[in-house]
Amino acid sequence: MESQLDYHQAKALLEWQIDLGATEAIGEQPVNRYEEPAKKPKPKVAAPADIPAAPIEIDAVAVSRQMANGSDDLEALKAAMAGYEHCELKKGARSLVFSDGKPGARVMVIGEAPGRDEDREGRPFVGRAGQLLDAMLAAIDHGRDHAENPVYITNVMPWRPPNNREPTPEEIAMMLPFLERHVALAQPDLLVLMGNVSCLAVLGKKGITKLRGDWVEAFGKPALPMFHPAYLLRNAPAKREAWADLLSLQKRLRG
Ligand code: URA
Repeated sequence: MESQLDYHQAKALLEWQIDLGATEAIGEQPVNRYEEPAKKPKPKVAAPADIPAAPIEIDAVAVSRQMANGSDDLEALKAAMAGYEHCELKKGARSLVFSDGKPGARVMVIGEAPGRDEDREGRPFVGRAGQLLDAMLAAIDHGRDHAENPVYITNVMPWRPPNNREPTPEEIAMMLPFLERHVALAQPDLLVLMGNVSCLAVLGKKGITKLRGDWVEAFGKPALPMFHPAYLLRNAPAKREAWADLLSLQKRLRG
């Protein structure tokens, strides 16, 4: 029977069943496995015209670099990303999550990827981790909607990975030219790299416990790796280090 569900409804239903503990899919009609299999049709010999041409290898990174570099402003960059077809994550996501806050703000926060709430709303950091991020920024008198001290926020990946898995190195590599161009067009003074995925994408390094708190250079700008707010929600004692990093950011902004 043809399903009446669209992609997102079917996916949500499947996720709900998995949450309830379902581990296998059972069809509506029983299948008799002892029955003789129907004779397989003889393979059709392809006429020369049917033989598919050898697939053309596409360099997904080269394509994204060309599209990113051809974007002259943030609107054009967003449109270019929306038209990019080589990242599998796009197929399972509801929204392209581009940015929030004020372009041109002195601070640009780079997170990992949208989660469920961000995918629904189309804005980065709107779930629990986002609320903690807002509180952290407010503690140093900054914020995405702050009139005097605004912040600009984006992610390495604009699409939600299924089940919030980490983006693969290939996915990161193909979206990196867009991120680099995003930074160039938003023109922040400083970058904050939130968590391991952001550090891996921008610095080529993981190990946030060691990296955090030390200023480095990324895309030609001073950059501060910090613990991701989602990590801080799971590890409250690490807020002590996060606070030290926020003070370091504040000092740099004042200096
Ligand atoms: N975590 C991120 O890294 N980015 C978001 O937008 C939300 C959660």
